[in-house]
Amino acid sequence: MNLLLIGSGGREHALAWALVKSPKLTKLYAAPGNAGIAQISELTDLDVSDHAAVIGFCRDKDIGLVIVGPEAPLVAGLVDDLEAAGIKAFGPSKAAAQLEGSKAFTKGVCDEADIPTAGYGRFADRDAALTYVREKGAPIVVKADGLAAGKGVVVAMTQTEAEDAVTACFEGSFGAAGAEVVIEEFLEGEEASFFVLSDGVNALPLATAQDHKRAFDGDQGPNTGGMGAYSPAPVMTDALVSEVMSRIIEPTIATLAARGTPFKGVLYAGLMITADGPKLIEYNTRFGDPECQVLMMRLNGDLLDLLLASVDGTLDKMSADWKDEVALTVVMAARGYPESYEKGTEIKGLEQLSSGSLEVFHAGTKRDGARLVANGGRVLNVTALGRTVREAQQNAYDAVARIDWPEGFCRSDIGWRAIARESGD
Ligand code: AMP
Ligand code: GLY
Repeated sequence: MNLLLIGSGGREHALAWALVKSPKLTKLYAAPGNAGIAQISELTDLDVSDHAAVIGFCRDKDIGLVIVGPEAPLVAGLVDDLEAAGIKAFGPSKAAAQLEGSKAFTKGVCDEADIPTAGYGRFADRDAALTYVREKGAPIVVKADGLAAGKGVVVAMTQTEAEDAVTACFEGSFGAAGAEVVIEEFLEGEEASFFVLSDGVNALPLATAQDHKRAFDGDQGPNTGGMGAYSPAPVMTDALVSEVMSRIIEPTIATLAARGTPFKGVLYAGLMITADGPKLIEYNTRFGDPECQVLMMRLNGDLLDLLLASVDGTLDKMSADWKDEVALTVVMAARGYPESYEKGTEIKGLEQLSSGSLEVFHAGTKRDGARLVANGGRVLNVTALGRTVREAQQNAYDAVARIDWPEGFCRSDIGWRAIARESGD
């Protein structure tokens, strides 16, 4: 079977790396891909926002399945258009991707299905939003309703911060995403990410992970797309996983199915494990990046079979098998990320780093002749296995030390919370 993978991040390199192990694969294409993905597939510069062009490419290359990595093409309805053209595609429809595309939509599903989540108000009007913030007081969380590349959330510890965030939202800081705001109760606890595969009816739990969203050590500094992650998330015990399945995931899948917009694809639940139990912070409708990298390192068996079962509605016959080992990934980013950074700096020393228990997944990289150069903010994902989080962390940082890229930086403490837990603190 020929496959087309859409995306260019570390997530997509990890997916490509897992897909090429499938005996069912004939040829993998990627649009637009990166220098790492180019080593194991054929890149195409197809414009993925041009759905007719994607359909034409799939017919021309006899693509048996399109795998959509990022959220934007999902929310734009790429999967709907491919399916209407008779081409199989992995990922949710435009209607089901609203679970990520609109925070207010997700809150509506939570209300309908009695899913535990933060209390909230939803406003299209600045004055009403400010009145609500003044009534509730800080700490409080202000969110632009739509997609804002992970930057539309302000956890306001003071009243002034909250009011400023509301004003900024309505003044257009997040563009169309901020035309409405959702204001939420501040939840206290430890965060975890939980990944599930659905075929619209069945939900197959994948694995748990934790990521580090802040740019600097000690979880300080600005929010980023993610500076590192590990799987499993020790906070997610088996009992918590069952509770999350029965109280959060299954009611969501059932509600979307009952509405006639079944959810197919990966459902990524951002959870807060509070003193009152797990609560849903948000949904994403795709694999996390960099969480996908650690999941793929731990997955035994054929990823393509799982993705096809999601599309074909046969997940009830499938199981997912994971290595017992811990996987941990350290993101290397261009200095200055998540603000301004330089592109085009040379990266050396990646040769001979990969082994059965270590992979360097590329994100923003490209080839410039024989040179490998940085081509984005997050650039490499150094991903290692270990028997413990500490061992996986050691293995990952040993490899980081061998990479020669003076213009890059990484956090030095990925996994710290889990390591503290392992040490019994
Ligand atoms: P989101 O984009 O919705 O995942 O939010 C980004 C981050 O903001 C989350 O990973 C949390 O760290 C934090 N956050 C979001 N909502 C809440 C909440 N209700 N209470 C506390 N922290 C939150
Ligand atoms: N690592 C967070 C995300 O993919 O949204």
